Amino acid sequence: MTRGGPVLAVDGPAAAGKGTLAKRLASSLNLPYLDTGLLYRAVGRLVLDAGQDPAAPAEDFARRLRAEDTQRKGLRTQEVARAASLVAAQPAVRSALVETQRRFAQERGGVLDGRDIGTAIFPDADVKLFITASPATRALRRFLQMGEDPKAEGAAARLAAMEADLQARDAADAGRQAAPMQVAADAVVIETDTLSADAVLAEALRVVRERLGTH
Ligand code: DC
Repeated sequence: MTRGGPVLAVDGPAAAGKGTLAKRLASSLNLPYLDTGLLYRAVGRLVLDAGQDPAAPAEDFARRLRAEDTQRKGLRTQEVARAASLVAAQPAVRSALVETQRRFAQERGGVLDGRDIGTAIFPDADVKLFITASPATRALRRFLQMGEDPKAEGAAARLAAMEADLQARDAADAGRQAAPMQVAADAVVIETDTLSADAVLAEALRVVRERLGTH
């Protein structure tokens, strides 16, 4: 079925700047934006609330997910991120969420950020970007976002723990059988270590214009 607008897939590892970029792309191009990580985080939250192990079968929670579950507070914690990564490794959980993601872009197109948007959800996306940065850069950005001061007492150890946590989650997300995080063959990779958010947006818009054939 034809869609009502272009689909832009923005994939990449944790804390690479996908969300910031995807939101800004969506507003520049006047397209709907979906943070697909929130779907998995919301399922992880429901599982934790039920006192269940996130590694145990969680399909029922994914099938029962409502829009308001993704708007709850407390979805951005490390505990929920770990639970999200565990439920996301389950093929039945992933299948339960496929239609929601495809339907989201049906009417007007959209910008979706995640891990498997360009490879599994929209293999025919109009534009595919893979946003990445070194683990050290990503950990430091997340650390600053959380309001931490890298010079404070004990900060070096907390920063190292954050980096280890991100790397463990990336390894799980890239190493799983079901729709692992990987660079789509036709994706453009943007390394953001030395780029400001504005520079990443400018580069992404350049790729979008080239791919969509607009000026
Ligand atoms: O992008 P995020 O950190 O909010 O994602 C949380 C977890 O959800 C991530 O570790 C893996 C999973 N996820 C996924 O498997 N597929 C997606 N499209 C988005 C997120």
